[in-house]
This record gives sequence, structure tokens and C-alpha cells, in this order.
Amino acid sequence: MSSFVRNAWYVAAWSREIGRQLTTRTILGENLVFWRREDGTPAVLVDRCPHKLAPLSLGTLVGDDLQCGYHGMTFNGSGQCVRIPGQAAIPPSASARTFALAERYGAVWIWMGDPALADAARIVEVRRHGEPGWALVDGQYLHFDCNYLNITDNLVDPAHTTYVHKGTIGNAAAEDVGVKVEQDDDHVLAYRWVNDSEPVPLVQAMGSFTGPVDRWQYYHLHLPSVSCVDFGSIAAGREHSEEEMDAGLRSFSYNFLTPETETTTHYFWLHLRNYHVDSAEAGAQVARLMTDTFLEDAAILARVQREQERTGVREFVRLAIDNAPARIRRLIARQQAQEAEQAAA
Ligand code: FES
Ligand SMILES: [Fe+2]
Repeated sequence: MSSFVRNAWYVAAWSREIGRQLTTRTILGENLVFWRREDGTPAVLVDRCPHKLAPLSLGTLVGDDLQCGYHGMTFNGSGQCVRIPGQAAIPPSASARTFALAERYGAVWIWMGDPALADAARIVEVRRHGEPGWALVDGQYLHFDCNYLNITDNLVDPAHTTYVHKGTIGNAAAEDVGVKVEQDDDHVLAYRWVNDSEPVPLVQAMGSFTGPVDRWQYYHLHLPSVSCVDFGSIAAGREHSEEEMDAGLRSFSYNFLTPETETTTHYFWLHLRNYHVDSAEAGAQVARLMTDTFLEDAAILARVQREQERTGVREFVRLAIDNAPARIRRLIARQQAQEAEQAAA
């Protein structure tokens, strides 16, 4: 059975990736071709001509439309055939499949479920995006060799940072600090405060703390697969309020997971920070550190995926730290059951 949720907005591409050339990407197992119309709006079709199934991405843009490279059938961005060479009548079946798109936060988002539900207001809010006092590391991309749910597990799992990320964002002080978990219908939050501890290497490098800090990790997962990690430090003993946290050293790391296939995932990410906001060097350093951190995750998750495939088992032992991942899996299963019901009705 597929692990995908279809009624959701996924990042299909960064805006800069889509232009007046044809760009291909596989999403939820579907081969797609993207381009921009002359007015700048993005368009997408399934990358398969309804005639002989030639990939449309081998064709050519003609104005706003896409002309198949095999026999020249031409489709507009709504999937309608607008021209068949040598034939005046266009049969109703001569259409290519398309999906709703929306552009926000420098990304092109795609909705691959029921088109009647494709409301752009449901795109997740990226906190502090575009606000003064916040610097953005934008438009980053990684490719993970695992099912997206292995990544959502990881992104609400503060416990692994001590081990997988010892050289980057973790340290041993957090080893035995418990994680609290909350949830509602489409959101799971795992969080913890590690009080009165040494700043971690990143905070050591970026902050100006002279003594111990209280540090927080809030791992939000907006279903099915947008993660926001709210991470920061304040001088030990200060109030744990939004105002104090914004006045401390704070960052929001967004990861937008888009399933490519059942065993591979597009990993789009951006990062907002409130420190060294005018420093290109700090931005480059954050980008390097985040990339190193995520590649540490990618490496272990690829191995986890292979073992899961080899054994057909996902986990043998359930630990207390699996509370948040288990909730996500349950909520995803519920969304899938709802979609299956709707499709049947
Ligand atoms: S395969 Fe596309 S027009 Fe024939
Ligand atoms: Fe990680």
C-alpha cells in the first residue's frame, strides 16, 4: 500500500528552478514536467503524452503551450489539447493530466489530491519569513534515499541529536532530558528545554554567551511532512517566553519533505535566524552546518531504509522516545483512510 497522502500541499520546486525551460521531477511516484507561461505563472503536466506516451519533457514550448516531441500534439497548461497536426477535430480524451500549483515563500507548491480541496490558504505558515530582523538561508535541496516517514520520524526525535549530530548541533548534556509531546489533528509537537548547560558548538560559535544557557528544541511536524525546528538558547535562568526567546539566539529550520517514490524523498529546506543577520559569512556557515547535519541524517536513514526493505520490518522495539513518531504515523494512517473513503464514495 502507498504511504502517500495526496490531499496536501507539497513543495514541488524552488521558484528559481522553474522557468522557460522544461523541468522534470517525480513526485508521489508521478513523473511531471514543469515550465512557466509567458506571464510567469507556473504550469505542470504529467510527463506523458496521451497519444503514444512519449515523455512530454522531450517536446518544445510554443508560447504558453507544450508541444509533444513525437507527433506534435500541443497542450496548454490546463492539460487541454489545443492542436493536433493534420487533424481539425480534437477528441475529448486528448488531454494531459495537470495539478493545482501555488507559489509562496520562494517555492512552487503542488496539490496532487482532490482538486476541489486545493486551497492555497492551507499552505503551512513559515514563521518570521520576510520579517525584519530575520535572515534567510533560502532555496536549499537535498535528496534522501528513504521513505519520507523515516524522515518525519527523525524530525520529531530530539533524542538522536546527541548521537548522530555530536559534531554539529548536539552535546551530551541533553542525553537524559525527557521530551514532551503534544498533538492536534494535523500537527505534532515534540519539545524539550535543556537548562543550565554548556552552549552547543553552533551556539558557541554564533552567540556571545559567557555562561551557561537554557536551550530549547521545539520540533513541529505539520502533517503530512512539513517540519519546523525552533531551536535556540537564552542565558540560563531567563523566562522561557516568546519575547525572551526572540531576544535570545533563535532559528527556525523548515524542512519540506516531498515524497519522490516510496523509497526516496525530495528534501527542500530553508533557515531563518535572528543572529548575524547582515553577515553573508554567517549565512554560509549556517548553510554548511545545516547541510552537514542533514547529511548525517540522510546517511543513517538510508541504512535504516535498506534494512527495513531487507527484513520487511519497520521496528522491533518501541521506546519512550518513539511517542511523537508513532503519533505522526497514526495521524497519517487516518488521513490515508479518509482519502481512501472519499475516493470510494
Ligand atoms: S506521442 Fe505525443 S503526439 Fe504522438
Ligand atoms: Fe537529525
